[in-house]
Amino acid sequence: MGQWQQTEGAESEQPRWAGFGEPEGAVAERPPLRIGMVGYAFMGAAHSQGWRTVGRVFDLPLRPVLAAICGRDAAAVHAAADRHGWATAETDWRDLVARDDIDLVDICTPGDTHAEIALAALAAGKHVLCEKPLANTVEEAEAMAEAAATAHERGLSAMVGFNYRRVPAAAFARRMVAEGRLGTLRHVRVTYLQDWLVDPSFPLTWRLRRERAGSGSLGDLGAHIIDLAQHLAGEPLAGVSALTETFVRERPLAGGVTGGLSAVSAAGTGAVTVDDAAVFTGRFASGALASFEATRYATGRKNALRIELNGERGSLAFDLERLNELSYHDGTEPGTHAGFRRILVTEPDHPYLDAWWPPGHGLGYEHTFVHQARDLVHAIAAGRTPEPSFADGLQVQRVLAAVEDSARKNSLYTPIAV
Ligand SMILES: NC(=O)c1ccc[n+]([C@@H]2O[C@H](COP(=O)([O-])OP(=O)(O)OC[C@H]3O[C@@H](n4cnc5c(N)ncnc54)[C@H](O)[C@@H]3O)[C@@H](O)[C@H]2O)c1
Repeated sequence: MGQWQQTEGAESEQPRWAGFGEPEGAVAERPPLRIGMVGYAFMGAAHSQGWRTVGRVFDLPLRPVLAAICGRDAAAVHAAADRHGWATAETDWRDLVARDDIDLVDICTPGDTHAEIALAALAAGKHVLCEKPLANTVEEAEAMAEAAATAHERGLSAMVGFNYRRVPAAAFARRMVAEGRLGTLRHVRVTYLQDWLVDPSFPLTWRLRRERAGSGSLGDLGAHIIDLAQHLAGEPLAGVSALTETFVRERPLAGGVTGGLSAVSAAGTGAVTVDDAAVFTGRFASGALASFEATRYATGRKNALRIELNGERGSLAFDLERLNELSYHDGTEPGTHAGFRRILVTEPDHPYLDAWWPPGHGLGYEHTFVHQARDLVHAIAAGRTPEPSFADGLQVQRVLAAVEDSARKNSLYTPIAV
């Protein structure tokens, strides 16, 4: 199967509803997978939750151990180690990477650090999980994908954290598309809308600086929907035509981050050097058309990732704010009875659900990180390249670069480099 045909999270396990079943063999006897995580804020908390939980819910070939957490502030990183359950703490990621009691480095830091940490970790013989977008530039992503391919020959796995693939409903949508239930795809319509920048006095956090984040809404939200759209469609984008805009160009300096996406201001102001919003159209290799919108200025929309796929035989729609559901229209039914129906994706035969709660007892955002950890552990144990791989991350980076290129050239249709 090629990169675009694969379906993950589909292996069936015996129902173990939330750890109440008995795994085969004592978990403590399984070989450990000793994790060292860099960054301890938003994604650090989400990944910690994933690593803490995964071995208690899924029957895994390896036993994840929360060995070390890393940040730059000694007091804060020790507090984070206590809060999130990590055994030890480091204040320099180089020391973490150099430790011979670490098997996997999990990168939960801003984009400007991804390439350097990932390259060092792979060179030191560690598996790597890297948050999205893979890098800040195509050049960095190329070096990372090349290093991951070489490291794979030495038995190492490298995965990029496009966690929305791991929402059970999204994984099931992928399965339905792969089964041919939509037939030939014609349209893919995707939006990812947030509103935390609407207030012009919101401070200039790292997400608003190009040298740290690479790009703005595009790399942050757009990267997710590019990956999800391509994954669900089962094929890559061939080209894009784009508009980007920075609505507020000067903001108060940031005094500190106070939560996932919140921060306090300091004295003075600075320039916003990334896009605030990106809107683009695209063409898939098969000829299907796609539209994308990524913004942090959609007043009232908090984390509204929505995708709809229309094919010759049927349509599917998913909304992250109702993440246990899929909307499906079977176009082969007689018109008199046809219509969109709601599939409650909580059955044990749905992806990942055999290990969780009885039907109807829904999952949430944090479970995507548990599923991400599960799939990575299985790939490591099997010596498989995990999905999404660094090569997949590089391809998304190329789409991001084409969007920026097109926007710079008055929306000129820009083919995606291969
Ligand atoms: N998958 C998702 O849904 C999702 C959601 C949010 C963010 N992200 C991605 O996760 C990454 C981190 O974002 P976040 O929201 O957690 O950011 P954040 O600001 O909440 O946390 C960043 C962390 O990195 C640490 N850090 C920064 N530079 C460091 C360095 N040189 N050495 C050690 N630690 C360093 C900070 O101290 C902080 O703990 C980004 O790539 C972002 O795009 C992914």
